[in-house]
Amino acid sequence: MEGTSAPSTPVTTADDVVSLTDVSRTVRLPDGEDLHILTGVNLHIARGEHVAVVGRSGSGKSTLLNIVGLLDAPTGGRYLLDGRPVSGLSARRTAKLRGQTFGFVFQQFNLLPGRTATENVANPLMYAGGRDFLHRKRTARAMLERVGLGHRLDTMPEKLSGGEQQRVALARSLVRRPRVLLADEPTGALDVDTGSAVMDVLEELVRDDGTTLVTITHDLSVAARADRRFRLDHGVLTEITADALAAATAHRETV
Ligand SMILES: Nc1ncnc2c1ncn2[C@@H]1O[C@H](COP(=O)(O)OP(=O)(O)OP(=O)(O)O)[C@@H](O)[C@H]1O
Ligand SMILES: [Mg+2]
Repeated sequence: MEGTSAPSTPVTTADDVVSLTDVSRTVRLPDGEDLHILTGVNLHIARGEHVAVVGRSGSGKSTLLNIVGLLDAPTGGRYLLDGRPVSGLSARRTAKLRGQTFGFVFQQFNLLPGRTATENVANPLMYAGGRDFLHRKRTARAMLERVGLGHRLDTMPEKLSGGEQQRVALARSLVRRPRVLLADEPTGALDVDTGSAVMDVLEELVRDDGTTLVTITHDLSVAARADRRFRLDHGVLTEITADALAAATAHRETV
């Protein structure tokens, strides 16, 4: 296997839930130039692992997360999800697989205004069948209890603090029990202490459920909590060693 970035785990193992090999994404700009957003990305994530990706604005972090979450397709390389290729699936099959596999959390909480916390969390179950649909309010309330918002069940998002809103968004992303949670700057809109508290809740939930977690962040202290960390630089992914992270943290460097 040949890759332009330093491969993290060079070979796929049976335990990998996400396995990207030499993945690229290139888009053709209106002026006819090719923009290489991702180049030679190798990323193999084991079940239950917490991986963080850091990198400057425009380095390709969201593009990478969108590829992992089946929102975008690679233009080169291979993506195996649970050991099976995802390329060539119909749009309908891809959407179904996405819904069954992934939960998403973003920097902006994107809660529905004028709907209670419970209604917001229950929303992804509106399209579920059978018992999931019937019990959606009960499930939503239980999930809100788990994120520490049992006392805010009937509160509208506009009455909640930023940290509380992100915890509602977290509950919403987990209500369908995704096997992989993809978090794009989940603490980006929060102050340090509130962000840290949200990460505490997030990590506890994924640990209890054995959920795989991929976090994109600008914050080294958030990245430090992951099992493994990677840096994206102009679309090239490299693993950050524990030593390099300690040195960067000591010098309060940005990444
Ligand atoms: N569909 C597209 N067409 C053209 N350019 C794109 C497209 N998608 C992404 N880009 C460009 O690719 C680069 C990487 O974008 P991406 O959103 O992945 O960056 P990012 O690392 O998430 O940045 P930020 O930290 O600001 O969120 C940017 O320069 C962006 O403008
Ligand atoms: Mg981004």
